[in-house]
Amino acid sequence: MSPVYLDNNASTQVDAEVVQAMLPFFLDQFGNASSMHDIGTAAGAPIKTARRQLQALIGAKFDHEITFTSGGTESVNTAILSGLDTVPGRTEIVTSAVEHPAVLTPCAHLEKTHGVKVHRIPVDHHGRLDLNAYRTALTHRVAIVSIMWANNETGTIFPVERLAEMAKQAGALFHADAVQAVGKLPMDLKSTAIDMLSLSGHKLHGPKGVGALYIKRGVPFHALIRGGHQERGRRAGTENTPGIVGLGKAAELALECMDEENKRIKSLRDRLEKGLLERIPRTFVTGDLLARLSNTTNVAFDRIAGEAMQSLLNRHGIACSSGSACTSGSSVPSHVLRAMNIRHGTALGAVRFSFSRHNREEDVDRVLELIPGIVEKLRDAVPGSRGHAK
Ligand SMILES: Cc1ncc(COP(=O)(O)O)c(C=O)c1O
Repeated sequence: MSPVYLDNNASTQVDAEVVQAMLPFFLDQFGNASSMHDIGTAAGAPIKTARRQLQALIGAKFDHEITFTSGGTESVNTAILSGLDTVPGRTEIVTSAVEHPAVLTPCAHLEKTHGVKVHRIPVDHHGRLDLNAYRTALTHRVAIVSIMWANNETGTIFPVERLAEMAKQAGALFHADAVQAVGKLPMDLKSTAIDMLSLSGHKLHGPKGVGALYIKRGVPFHALIRGGHQERGRRAGTENTPGIVGLGKAAELALECMDEENKRIKSLRDRLEKGLLERIPRTFVTGDLLARLSNTTNVAFDRIAGEAMQSLLNRHGIACSSGSACTSGSSVPSHVLRAMNIRHGTALGAVRFSFSRHNREEDVDRVLELIPGIVEKLRDAVPGSRGHAK
């Protein structure tokens, strides 16, 4: 039986058309884009095209607002450090308690090594940001706000456009970690107050090791990676031409099919969710059900270990995640579910299923066939767990 891949928030399969677009830049036009001969300069126009393809996907006003990087983590680190460096007299960061480690780890590092004050805004039981706490944290000392557009574990969408407006009124820069949102949500950055935005190729059927940082024209910026003059001095290092071309193609494809695929993917996700809730008692969907990515569901099965479930599903060829891919391997509930104050015994049983345009109805059928038996087996193994009250 072919595997069922439901871990698309961790990474996606590179689209065949993307691979085709990349191949010439390995085999023929492999030169350095900065060289003066044809085998190098041949990369110039395709890199420009890729920038325009991304510009269209995120609704940037100018193509030069896009700087290519090595992925989401680099973009996020660059944005946060640049924000701290370039806003005179301001030394604080505002972020949320449920960010990806790409944001939380550099913030903790800055706190420890540079004495930077970091405000981690809490969320409620549904993962919604505490707007009052956010408003209170936004003082004249804040240099930069970094908040995710959509959560990688629950799919919860934050109102980043509104948050960015509030940051602007407080005189702070606003960076959106949109790694999980780009290609899944329509965007028109030119009509928002978002100053910087991070995205990553491998979350939208593009290659790994390539991403981009959007920097709105006029926003002060300091490069993190210094060296040559590539990317107009904003990100030094020989251009990853195949990766950039692949990311551009992936952006074009995402824009083409976003509306249609979002509807189809949502119906698969909803059928899986409904089927699980109907078949398995003491099962809960976590996150903001009213503002959520259409491809993500985080289902918590009370009194089982999500990791055990993930591992049994894996044996049957089904790939999913028991929390964030970057934090799995640990048997404590993820920081996201803890921040949401989900009961410990329930949060431990959380499993994330994340769909993409490559999933089909049969994938949902397979999971629905298998999971009830697995839950029963795992609950049977825990003394006193059967028939336990909620
Ligand atoms: C919300 C979010 N931000 C940042 C990242 C890091 O992106 P990358 O894997 O491209 O470094 C991820 C990856 O899972 C993510 O989900």
